[in-house]
Amino acid sequence: MFFFKRSKKKHQEDLHIDLDNVPEHIAIIMDGNGRWAKAKGLPRTMGHKAGVETIRNIVKDCSNIGIKYLTLYAFSTENWKRPKDEVNALMELLVTYLRQEFEELNRNNVIINNIGDISMLPKRCREELDSAYERTKNNTGLTLNLALNYGGRKEILDAVNGLVDDIKDGKLQCTKVTEDILERYLYTKDMPDPDIIIRPSGEQRLSNFLLWQCAYSEFWYSNINWPDFTKEDLHKAIWDYQHRDRRFGGIK
Ligand code: IPE
Ligand code: IPE
Ligand code: MG
Repeated sequence: MFFFKRSKKKHQEDLHIDLDNVPEHIAIIMDGNGRWAKAKGLPRTMGHKAGVETIRNIVKDCSNIGIKYLTLYAFSTENWKRPKDEVNALMELLVTYLRQEFEELNRNNVIINNIGDISMLPKRCREELDSAYERTKNNTGLTLNLALNYGGRKEILDAVNGLVDDIKDGKLQCTKVTEDILERYLYTKDMPDPDIIIRPSGEQRLSNFLLWQCAYSEFWYSNINWPDFTKEDLHKAIWDYQHRDRRFGGIK
């Protein structure tokens, strides 16, 4: 039966992506940590730990191949529904990641940014995120957006409320809200929309991710769980992206 086995080497083969035409902004819904752990008979938190290893590799690769923005969905506004122990473990992993990776990310010119309402995160996390941003905000390489306590609907509501406050305070004069004005109040202000949204683990939904910004994003799904997601998988997604026809409602 051995000849039915698929060659691992072939599967792992790297695709030649066009480095002059990489997406400017890649967004990833990092999913499948729990299922990865379950399949191995491990606790879910071990899946999250393994997921952090994937983050390390993917961030490095994005930085190397010249991606300008990488947004990673790490914790949604709905993820608070999970058991307290799991939420705490995720927050701890965030602090550890930032501490362990800071020097190398900074050396590689990465801006460590976050999107979402981090005011609800534990103080330790907020301090670590603020300090990472302060120390890297003048870098000029990849912007790493960690989406934490992020929800697309909340983002739009926060933007509308911010805008209403500014009108009330006389800081903004307008009688009609335009797309441009609203975008100035989003967490992603001054950033391009994601060109491609990647979701591993087999689920094909947005789960409240970048609802405003995804209007013309390309979607890319795979059955691989996030801890098993490799640089080669990322390159496969980029290769597919490079062979798609984006029309933005127009015609060729
Ligand atoms: C993604 O993995 C990580 C977070 C949502 C924080 P999951 O924990 O959702 O993994 P599954 O979907 O249960 O496998
Ligand atoms: C989306 O994954 C959120 C993150 C990856 C942070 P979930 O696992 O929470 O999404 P659902 O519940 O399957 O839609
Ligand atoms: Mg999930």
